[in-house]
Order: sequence, then structure tokens, then C-alpha cells
Amino acid sequence: MALSTAGAITLNINGEKHTLPVDHRTTLLDALRERLGLTGTKKGCDQGQCGACTVLIDGRRAVSCLQLAVAAEGREITTIEGVADGERLHPVQQAFLDLDGYQCGYCTPGQICSAIAVIEEHAAGWPSAVTADVRPEAEAPPLTADEIRERMSGNLCRCGAYVAIVQAVARAAADTERAVGAGRAAGAEEAA
Ligand code: FES
Ligand code: FES
Repeated sequence: MALSTAGAITLNINGEKHTLPVDHRTTLLDALRERLGLTGTKKGCDQGQCGACTVLIDGRRAVSCLQLAVAAEGREITTIEGVADGERLHPVQQAFLDLDGYQCGYCTPGQICSAIAVIEEHAAGWPSAVTADVRPEAEAPPLTADEIRERMSGNLCRCGAYVAIVQAVARAAADTERAVGAGRAAGAEEAA
């Protein structure tokens, strides 16, 4: 008897649950775009090389063209449609907008999702391939242009908007750091 390759799955996307029947061979990218109408996530190469399809899964970036939708069941998926806070853009979105971190915009949703994770990975002290001192006890490296270029190297931009993309990621990281610092200061004041 042939085994079925289809079934219903429930995906948690941007805080909402979506139950849909899928062929189990469907990628998360195709489920998002073709089945759920979440077309902000882009298909570029469809083979894990361009980063256009980057989304966040449990806060970590992932290329959704290499992820089966069934394997994403029970995880928190965030797409570009879910990164803003209501009408308020995410700091990374705002920085891309202010600093022209895009031209045609096709790679931009993936760049932004990736940059959100890069800033969190860096704040958590994760080293990159260009970090000089990777000893666990070493200080976190500053998020220099070289660090940003390396950490964002999985996201290609065929328009070549890299200079502004690096500036936008640096600005968003600085804004995030300031906001975290202000939050800590306010918390300390309240506790005093
Ligand atoms: S479309 Fe997924 S990496 Fe290019
Ligand atoms: S802005 Fe056109 S591909 Fe990046």
C-alpha cells in the first residue's frame, strides 16, 4: 500500500496559527508564498544560495527554501510581515528606509530578517568568521563593517546596495543598543 505524502499541518506564523493541508514535500517558502499569501518572503535561487527567502524560526535565521513546512510545525516563524510593531517599523526596517538600504527591494525582506538576527547574535556575543579573538572569555567584538559584511554574507543583493545595507545594519544595531541601555536605566531607576 502506498504511503500518503500529504496531511494537515499547523504553522505558527507571526503569532497566528495557520492549519493547512500540504504535500509533505512542500518547502516552508512555498507554503508561505503559495498557500498562505505571505509573499513578503522572496524566492530567488530556491537552493539556499541567495538568502532572499530568509525568515526567523525560533528567533534564528533560516533559508525557508531549504526547510520543509512540516519540519517547522510547532516552531515560532517570523516573516517580514511580522517584524513591525503595529504601525511602528522595526528599527532595522526604519534604518533600511532612512539610509536607502535597497534599490529594487527584492532581496530586502531577507536582508532585514537576517539583520535582525545578526544584531541579536552579536549582542549575545557570538563570534563570526572574521572575529579575531574567538576564545569564550574574549570580549564581544565591535560590530564593525567587516563583521557586518561577514555576518550578512549569506544575503546577496543583485542591485549591489551593499554599502547602504552595511550602514543600515550598523545604525539599527546602535539604535537597538541605545534602546536596551535606556530600558536598563529606566528599570534601575524604578528599582531604586
Ligand atoms: S531562495 Fe532560498 S536561499 Fe535563495
Ligand atoms: S535591492 Fe535589488 S536585489 Fe537587493
